[in-house]
Amino acid sequence: MLYINNLTKNYGSFTAVNHLTLHIPEGDLFGFVGPNGAGKTTTIRIVCGLLRASGGLVVIGDSEAPIGSREMKRMIGYVPDFFGVYDNLKVREYMDMYGSMYGMYSRDIAKISDDLLELVNLSDKKDVYVDTLSRGMKQRLCVARALLHNPKLLILDEPSSGLDPRARVEMKELLKNLHSMGKTIVISSHILSELSEMCTSIGIMNRGQLITAGRIEDIMQQLSGGKRIHVQVISDMETAVRFLK
Ligand SMILES: Nc1ncnc2c1ncn2[C@@H]1O[C@H](COP(=O)(O)OP(=O)(O)OP(=O)(O)O)[C@@H](O)[C@H]1O
Ligand SMILES: [Mg+2]
Repeated sequence: MLYINNLTKNYGSFTAVNHLTLHIPEGDLFGFVGPNGAGKTTTIRIVCGLLRASGGLVVIGDSEAPIGSREMKRMIGYVPDFFGVYDNLKVREYMDMYGSMYGMYSRDIAKISDDLLELVNLSDKKDVYVDTLSRGMKQRLCVARALLHNPKLLILDEPSSGLDPRARVEMKELLKNLHSMGKTIVISSHILSELSEMCTSIGIMNRGQLITAGRIEDIMQQLSGGKRIHVQVISDMETAVRFLK
């Protein structure tokens, strides 16, 4: 679904992304992990056509559309790390505005917005001003907005940052749900453990370079030094008590 080949981004003499090569298959929930300054946002912004690469190639699906083209942007739903909402817009109006930007018909926008707001659990907030929503709700609204044009690929840049534990769980459930509906998803985070239980594959980046990438089971095994821990669960209470004595 997403092919990144030899991608490089230089800022003057500083290399933020250094010959990054990555393939994310269709249907994957891919976790992009790395510390501050690793180059995650830079890579994501290049893929979304918001930043020009210094070198390399990005291909989405089997499209030959150039990076940043309208056709390529149509294939991507992007949830940025920082996003503004508009003070004087209600949730429904916000979705309408983005729908019209995508060139959708008003009746389609109304129907699809309703479905998406239900999916992100904001149905009861349709007539509320967006700037009065909590951060977690704003994040979910941003996911709904990014899905309006039914993109093949959903890319979220640290969607859980600044959320409380409950909102994090809600975001995780939403992403799992979207994945089970067949969306290919890329999500970035600083924290491997946060992604490990929901992602199907992972790429770890540091200082512009990809350290490792692959199926989650393989990466976790690599990180644990290949050790396997066998855990026996005792369901019978009496046996458990005897075992503990
Ligand atoms: N416009 C810019 N000019 C110069 N350097 C930049 C610019 N944007 C990013 N960088 C540098 O590129 C590197 C990668 O930044 P990037 O934002 O991609 O990292 P990140 O992995 O998303 O980090 P974080 O987890 O903090 O969001 C950093 O060292 C950053 O300072
Ligand atoms: Mg970032």
